[in-house]
Amino acid sequence: MELDEALRKAADLIVNASSVVAFTGAGISVESGIPDFRSSGGLWSKYDPEVYCNYSVFKQKPELFWKMAVDMQSTMAEAQPNPAHYALAELESMGYLKHVITQNVDNLHQRAGSNKVRELHGNGSTASCMVCRSKVPISEAMDQLNSGKSVPVCSRCGGVLRMDAILFGEPLQSSVMEGSLRLAMFAEVMLVIGTSLVVSPANSLVQLCKSNQGTIVICDPSPANSHLAHVMLRGNAGEVLPRLVQACKALRTKGKAQM
Ligand SMILES: NC(=O)c1ccc[n+]([C@@H]2O[C@H](COP(=O)([O-])OP(=O)(O)OC[C@H]3O[C@@H](n4cnc5c(N)ncnc54)[C@H](O)[C@@H]3O)[C@@H](O)[C@H]2O)c1
Ligand SMILES: [Zn+2]
Repeated sequence: MELDEALRKAADLIVNASSVVAFTGAGISVESGIPDFRSSGGLWSKYDPEVYCNYSVFKQKPELFWKMAVDMQSTMAEAQPNPAHYALAELESMGYLKHVITQNVDNLHQRAGSNKVRELHGNGSTASCMVCRSKVPISEAMDQLNSGKSVPVCSRCGGVLRMDAILFGEPLQSSVMEGSLRLAMFAEVMLVIGTSLVVSPANSLVQLCKSNQGTIVICDPSPANSHLAHVMLRGNAGEVLPRLVQACKALRTKGKAQM
């Protein structure tokens, strides 16, 4: 199916569905300058996430995680939402998109104006004390690291600070996961964007939606998951999703003209 035809098909599904959810991964933020895990080169070849973002490793050697965070701070601080994030916010404000479920921790959906965002893997813009749980902006941890500390600590009790992002090997927050499972189960259409679907249990959401008769629309430049898609929007999300919004608008206008 050509992209134009696939876009028309996806827009038709979205405009006519009673419940549409988006499920996003690192790929949606690649055009904002944050590298994903699977693409070759760059940051993740220097810092293997299975080691540097691993919870057991963090508990033994928190300085490894924080070393990586220092190296990444300019990338994260400079990242701005891209047209794909804005397109999802627009679909929500048009009344078509019920929720965004994201695996990302970069806060870019919220900054683009999405109001209903479920973060499966937490949010990297804050850090919490491992002992007393008090929460601080991530900038406070970064300030300590930039002034020479290898591990930032809590100003109240001296406990080690951790970023509020879920690490590999750490359980997800059950309320967030349960809410997401419900959304996936009842979604008529799931728009899956920029995720390799290799991270569990997040990847089970797509399967759950599909086995409950949901229609899966995937936007990704890689064909790796295309076998799961009823409609494949092959390309970069920052280019494809604004076109999807236009296609939804065109259908809406056509619908009104026929009334
Ligand atoms: N921005 C972030 O917050 C961030 C960044 C890296 C990793 N992570 C975390 O790491 C895990 C990685 O798993 P994942 O499945 O999300 O990512 P992944 O790295 O495993 O897969 C990324 C997917 O995005 C696709 N992609 C690349 N560029 C794209 C673009 N411009 N438009 C659309 N798709 C594009 C790739 O083809 C790939 O299928 C997640 O759990 C996430 O929490 C988060
Ligand atoms: Zn503390």
